[in-house]
Amino acid sequence: MTPQARGKVRIAPSLLSADFGRLADDLAMLEAGGADWLHVDVMDGVFVPNLTFGAKVIETCRKLTKLPLDVHLMVVEPEKYFDAFVRAGAATLTIHVEAAPHLHRQVMAIKELGAMAGATLNPATPLETVRDIAADLDLLLIMSVNPGFGGQRFIPGAVERIARARTMLDEARSRAVLEVDGGIARETIAACWRAGADTFVAGNAIFSAKDPRAEIGALRALCTEQA
Ligand code: DX5
Ligand code: ZN
Repeated sequence: MTPQARGKVRIAPSLLSADFGRLADDLAMLEAGGADWLHVDVMDGVFVPNLTFGAKVIETCRKLTKLPLDVHLMVVEPEKYFDAFVRAGAATLTIHVEAAPHLHRQVMAIKELGAMAGATLNPATPLETVRDIAADLDLLLIMSVNPGFGGQRFIPGAVERIARARTMLDEARSRAVLEVDGGIARETIAACWRAGADTFVAGNAIFSAKDPRAEIGALRALCTEQA
């Protein structure tokens, strides 16, 4: 599929890099800057070596913004949280295949709750692990860092993985969103777009920019200029 045929670029700023003391202001700034989704990283200190937030914070964000909440679950036994997170306002729930021994059942359970179901892969996990359910996925997330922390360096091999994921989704006639997460910035976003990603998580690149609001548009423009 050509980049033009894929439709719109989505920019999903990551809540992880927001200032929690001024959360309402930060979320208003992201909306004003044209963000498409708010990416919410849930970490349990077991699947990844870091702890973040749960349903309460998702519910708070739901009240503070109209942006769809794109929830990335970096937790073991993610199914324990599906119901609470959808009730709290998650629009998408994305689970790690490394923590999902019953991926098909878990994906179906998310859909039954009315959310978009996503699967994601750590950088060393073969794409083959999702090939047979590609048509069932609403979203495929390619990790371009090892999950756990914001502000890490983009792993260059992710570009080629995105290209292979694009081919896999097209072959399966899957309409899944193809998202990339980790180290997305002005230097890396266009290559990911050209390789076939349509949705871009960005934490550090947006929140550490001189003008975070304008950075959302700048990142988007780097994709569309290349289309
Ligand atoms: C990493 C998280 C990312 C993180 C991205 O484990 O999944 O969503 O917030 O942050 P940056 O854009 O700073 O790499
Ligand atoms: Zn994430």
